[in-house]
Amino acid sequence: MTTWNEDLETGHPSIDEEHRELIRQLESLKVAVDAGADREHVTDLIVILQRYAHGHFSREEAHMARVKCPAHHANCMAHKEFSERLDGWLELLTRSGTPRSLVLDVQSESMDWIRRHITKIDCQLRHCAPVAPEPAGEPAM
Ligand SMILES: [Fe+2]
Repeated sequence: MTTWNEDLETGHPSIDEEHRELIRQLESLKVAVDAGADREHVTDLIVILQRYAHGHFSREEAHMARVKCPAHHANCMAHKEFSERLDGWLELLTRSGTPRSLVLDVQSESMDWIRRHITKIDCQLRHCAPVAPEPAGEPAM
């Protein structure tokens, strides 16, 4: 099962690889739930996803700022909103005993969000040079 396609490619290799990893983790979560994984395993996968998403968002925001992507601000706002939803879902899952139906809702909403987000916002990176030169430092004194 793969849901990756070229519509999701930003043209920035490290960002694309991290997006593939996010999608792989979401696919693994679905596979685990379908295979009857226990609550502890499912929670672990969601925590790993949450940590990876937070790290990815920070790296992508720094990259967009560096290449002066016009979508930088919209990207930061969207990441903040999704991070808050993910935190809320994790809390709800923990409180409610991680029922299978709720995990599948979270998985499916997250997959929809990430694909929409990559297509609409992250793919604006296509208009930015993949590797911008580092700004010149101050001359040594
Ligand atoms: Fe993004």
